[in-house]
Amino acid sequence: MGYEQLWLDYTRKVSCKEAEGISYICVKIQDAKQDALIANSVKELQEAFLGMAGSRLTLRQECGQDAGAVQAGNADGHSICLAFREGMKAEAYHLFGEKGDIVIEASDSRGILYGTFDLIRQVQMENSLHTLDRFKAPAMPMRMLNHWDNMDGSIERGYSGESFFFEKNEIIVNDRTRDYARLAASVGINAVVINNVNVKDAATWLITDRYLDKVRELSEVFAEYGIRLYMSLNYAAPMELGQLDSADPLSDEVRDWWHKRMETVFGRIPNLGGFLIKADSEGRPGPFTYGRTHADGANMLADAAAPYGGIIIWRCFVYNCMQDWRDYRTDRARSGYDNFIGQDGMFRDNVILQIKNGPMDFQVREPVHPLLGGLTKTNQMLEVQIAQEYTGQQRHLCYLIPMFKQILQFRTYAREEEDTVMDIVSGRTFGQHNCGMAAVANTGNDDNWTGHDMAAANWYGFGRLSFEPELSAEEIAREWIRVTYGNDEQVEETLMFLLMSSWPAYESYTSPLGIGWMVTPDNHYGPSVDGYEYSRWGTYHRADHWGIGVDRSHEGTGYALLYREPNASVYDDREKCPDELLLFFHHIPYTWKLRSGKTVIQHIYDSHFEGVEAVDEMAEQFEKLQGKLPDKAYRRMAGRFMEQKEHAREWRDQINAYFYRKSGIIDEKGRKIY
Ligand code: GCU
Repeated sequence: MGYEQLWLDYTRKVSCKEAEGISYICVKIQDAKQDALIANSVKELQEAFLGMAGSRLTLRQECGQDAGAVQAGNADGHSICLAFREGMKAEAYHLFGEKGDIVIEASDSRGILYGTFDLIRQVQMENSLHTLDRFKAPAMPMRMLNHWDNMDGSIERGYSGESFFFEKNEIIVNDRTRDYARLAASVGINAVVINNVNVKDAATWLITDRYLDKVRELSEVFAEYGIRLYMSLNYAAPMELGQLDSADPLSDEVRDWWHKRMETVFGRIPNLGGFLIKADSEGRPGPFTYGRTHADGANMLADAAAPYGGIIIWRCFVYNCMQDWRDYRTDRARSGYDNFIGQDGMFRDNVILQIKNGPMDFQVREPVHPLLGGLTKTNQMLEVQIAQEYTGQQRHLCYLIPMFKQILQFRTYAREEEDTVMDIVSGRTFGQHNCGMAAVANTGNDDNWTGHDMAAANWYGFGRLSFEPELSAEEIAREWIRVTYGNDEQVEETLMFLLMSSWPAYESYTSPLGIGWMVTPDNHYGPSVDGYEYSRWGTYHRADHWGIGVDRSHEGTGYALLYREPNASVYDDREKCPDELLLFFHHIPYTWKLRSGKTVIQHIYDSHFEGVEAVDEMAEQFEKLQGKLPDKAYRRMAGRFMEQKEHAREWRDQINAYFYRKSGIIDEKGRKIY
């Protein structure tokens, strides 16, 4: 096989007496034999219980009974019972112990599958099974991964090898596809976009005969684990594939072309969920060319997909990437909001706007995107990135769930209550059912799937968080550690420490006070303070001899005022703005006193020294796990920590030297600055 099984590695033995006492699986579901999800649940339980607890589970198919009458007990051993129960929410399950038996009840087979994986987690964590009583319903309807995989096998912003979906312009369906689907489903993922949002070359042809059979095959593997397949679309496909001379969304010819294409595509791939579109963004085609709006473009596709229940996910990552750095009025941060807010309410019900968590682009710290909660009449979905493009590229450890938690907890004030980002993307705020959360995936064909072994915590964590956003980042981390590496206390505590220190540490030795973008252009790895300062991308820090930061207050670009009150007043006022976002919103003198009592310049120096110390401490703690983690994993991680230590120093020294030279202000602690 070569590759690893991560948190579904059933060769790891557990000590769980109750699991050892189970001998049967009773499936009390009509026609269960025809249901691949139920069959896969059974298989998963059999393999997990045998591998981890040594119990061989015999299958008993007992149909025709309702779940109310579940009485699984057998004289010769206990059972796990799978049963449907009416009246439960879609995808929800109830996992409970009953007189030595274990019952998973759900209203649909996805619920049974999720309950199954939950039970397996409980066994892995050696929890008591008899007393289980876990009633879980996913908070968000859409829990999605966006793969930026290209058909030549490369992955845009991929840091863990090549694609396992594509190779040399062909689609791969093999054992790894199934294992991917199992891993994703086990944490609650129910939708996957297989190809990069930048749709070019062969990928444009995914919706044609050339690939449809293979896409269907892939979609069937996904469907057996409750996952709907989505594809990214090339907005100009009618021109590239259909030889039309326009892609104008209001042209009858173009509309007709899409209607026929959708009929074919959905006809050939019944499990298809729909499409993701990046339009009029970073050079990708879109409706602007024809003087039309995003709503015109999205609705045209939505109308064509609607007869088949298809969903159109339209990205809001739209900005002018040909900006002049001399121009202080244009503000990239504003552009998503400015482009979409005027069209609130104009999108069809099967359109979802996918909004990046911040207004710029997955920096280590950004304010929450003002469209989230700005839009009130449009389906909204939150986009985060677990591929660590700007957060160490899976060479540095950066556990991102604490960041995502903060974003989800952010109050938008779109209403008096139930107004957080979590409420919005769960559909509570505006009564929406097409909403949820998507993450740009961090997987590739490396043996450990994610490059850094601990980056798997971001994949695992994203799924768990989108299913149960009320879980804390700590709870998720603990769970991931125990299901992956077992229940040794030292391993658990050390890895907890590493995960939970990692985002703060990364922020400390890289970007100060929310400014972002001091990265090497193009590859986005490593420091380059002025790398983007005089470029066309709209990503400036505006540092001069006196201070640093972008004035986005009412006196500057006015971005701060795009938020609802009281957020707008807080961000607009440099006295009230939280320290960690100060330079995002204001141009501030180096001598300005932060709420922490430090000056801006001293904060820059201190945090960069502290960040490096934190990484040294992390590396030291990690070394104590030698012999306690699987050898291969230990060695891989040790190599990454060495690199992280070295690169953190590079960050510290370049950033500190830059600001020392700009400001001429010495470090009050007299440390070495170059
Ligand atoms: C970032 C990233 C690109 C990507 C883009 C997007 O800018 O660097 O590679 O295409 O985001 O989200 O579309």
